[in-house]
Amino acid sequence: MNTAQELRRHKRTSVLPLGLCVALAVFSAPGVARDVTLARSLAATCANCHGTDGRSRNPALPSLAGMKAETLMEALAHYRSGRRPGTVMPQIVKGYTEEQLRLIAAYFAAQPKP
Ligand code: HEC
Repeated sequence: MNTAQELRRHKRTSVLPLGLCVALAVFSAPGVARDVTLARSLAATCANCHGTDGRSRNPALPSLAGMKAETLMEALAHYRSGRRPGTVMPQIVKGYTEEQLRLIAAYFAAQPKP
């Protein structure tokens, strides 16, 4: 077998699956890290009122830490539609896209309950 044939054989057998594994490992990890960083900075915009990482120190403002993501998303959807009344939340929620709210909800859901 000459070198070219051997290389072709290698490509078919070992190189391709290995290449796929490397590509997956290299490309998925930073993607997840980027989402977590993005989620954290988005959630930080709620901290002024709801406390750092959603742990409120003000009894008038609910803590968001440890709230189920679906419950949070439902509350936000109702503020957006006007179904649920609020002083500031109906206005605030309009400043975020659906995707941003999903990241925020997932972030708070992952925080320990206060
Ligand atoms: C300016 C202060 C302020 C900011 C900033 C703010 N909130 Fe609120 N949030 C409130 C207040 C006040 C309420 C009570 C409802 C109302 O009066 O609007 C509330 C209520 C909520 C509730 C309902 C909680 C429950 O127990 O039912 C959720 C969910 C919520 N906020 C999520 C968020 C998220 C997510 C962000 C960031 C994107 C955010 N809030 C930013 C003041 C704020």
